[in-house]
Amino acid sequence: MSKDHNAQKTCWNCPALELRGHVDFRACGQSMRKFMTEGQAMAECKRRPELGLFDPASLTFEECPEWEEGPYGYQLRDMRVLILGIDGYLGWTLALWLGSLGFRVAGVDNFNRRRWVAEEGSHSVVPIAPMEERLRAAKEVLGIEISFREFDILDNEKLRQFIQEFQPEAIVHYAECPSAPYSMVDFQHAAYVQHNNVIGTLGLLFAMRDLAPEASLIKLGTMGEYGTPLTGRPIFEGIFPADAVLQWDGREWSLGGELTPRDPVSFYHVSKVQDTFNVYESCKYWWLRSYDVMQGVIYGVHTEQVAADPRLRTRFDVDEWFGTVINRFVAQAVVGIPLTIYGSGGQTRGFLALRDAMQCMTRLILSPPEPGQYDVVNQISGVYRVRELAETVARIAADEFGLEVEIQRLENPRVEADEHPYEVVYEKLPQQLGFEPQVTLEEEVYQMLKLLIQPSIRSRIEAIRQVILPKTRWSGLHKEMDVIERYKVRPRRVVGLGAEGGGEDDPER
Ligand SMILES: NC(=O)c1ccc[n+]([C@@H]2O[C@H](COP(=O)([O-])OP(=O)(O)OC[C@H]3O[C@@H](n4cnc5c(N)ncnc54)[C@H](O)[C@@H]3O)[C@@H](O)[C@H]2O)c1
Repeated sequence: MSKDHNAQKTCWNCPALELRGHVDFRACGQSMRKFMTEGQAMAECKRRPELGLFDPASLTFEECPEWEEGPYGYQLRDMRVLILGIDGYLGWTLALWLGSLGFRVAGVDNFNRRRWVAEEGSHSVVPIAPMEERLRAAKEVLGIEISFREFDILDNEKLRQFIQEFQPEAIVHYAECPSAPYSMVDFQHAAYVQHNNVIGTLGLLFAMRDLAPEASLIKLGTMGEYGTPLTGRPIFEGIFPADAVLQWDGREWSLGGELTPRDPVSFYHVSKVQDTFNVYESCKYWWLRSYDVMQGVIYGVHTEQVAADPRLRTRFDVDEWFGTVINRFVAQAVVGIPLTIYGSGGQTRGFLALRDAMQCMTRLILSPPEPGQYDVVNQISGVYRVRELAETVARIAADEFGLEVEIQRLENPRVEADEHPYEVVYEKLPQQLGFEPQVTLEEEVYQMLKLLIQPSIRSRIEAIRQVILPKTRWSGLHKEMDVIERYKVRPRRVVGLGAEGGGEDDPER
């Protein structure tokens, strides 16, 4: 796996950098360095004060003894990472992942997600331990000490105190309500989601300005911010490339460096777009540095660390509000509910396995942007149509586990195109940050089925059967969807799982 993506980064990228001297140029989300002539900026190092004043471009990560070689690139020794939303699906997985790599991890959560899921009468189908037990098990089983605080990040005083105390060098911000249907239930839910997400992020940005301006912010957005442009134009990585051009009325302008259009698909996605602008502005006004991560839909249940002990498992939701599509299909297959696709099932989206998402986050943490730099990455490893995914899950469930699986097309509760072009650019993580996906869709679906089919988990899925099918419509109606069609997929063994493979998709309709 590529380790040298960050070897030539310099002190400009390091959170230990402290710039000295007068800096008064402001530019739009661009790195401060672009506007400096060589030798104009001088810096000190918080970790190595003995260096005195020096030119920050003069030392690379490879040359600095504070940066040591690790599996995902040069790693800042004992780097302090604060995870907001550490009790969540991704937050808990990342805490253990980073802890195992030797990062110092702290986290905040107010257990919102546990309450939102309970509000619908649901639960994580993979049982999760209370936080105290999680922390104890992390120490006992993996030798990882995590510093945890329970509070709402909207409580800006508490957030500031914790940032002051922990002095993070990177902040991963997962602490938002991540559900599109939840934000579409009614006015109260829409307002709640937007307030929680947008104001939480805004408060964090002000706290970073005052207390941790050198830390990089890895802010979770979503591919859903872009929507699905029906013209088929490419979905760039948040910012137009230098050679993009706008032609109109016989004239031509460069679009290079401008934010690309956003077309969110729910009030939840609107909150993420609002965050995008708030983060972008903060980089511009205060030289904060951020990766805005347009993350695809995550699937999976497996990393080495969460699988190390039942108390270390991360949550896995399959209800209509909080379950993500592949995870839901697997649960439906296990309890004999036909896999539910909306409309024609031609919706095309970017996806990423849980373990690969952790690798991406590690690489982003290890390659901080420069002061003032707002950058965007499209974090996916593959693009699939929803009906292809249902067919893949159905085949693996049938071939490997002997499950009888049907697929059913329901009327679409959402307002979205269900057949559309989708040309997404996702180059920065693999080409600039060394990301190499390690998990195939088929392998991870197999792993999920293997876990979910265990009788104790299967019965937890059975117990929430009534909240799996969608009822929340974008129109505001709360009612089950009509079934348009049901069909079975002809078995075809899948390559790589001890199978023969081959053959065209041939659903028996
Ligand atoms: N899971 C995915 O497929 C996916 C895809 C794209 C983007 N994302 C984004 O990634 C992030 C994490 O997603 P996830 O699936 O782990 O969600 P999650 O709900 O499991 O995790 C979020 C955590 O943040 C906490 N939280 C929320 N608001 C808070 C607040 N005000 N104060 C303190 N804690 C708070 C919740 O309790 C929860 O534990 C979210 O921002 C989500 O929008 C997720």
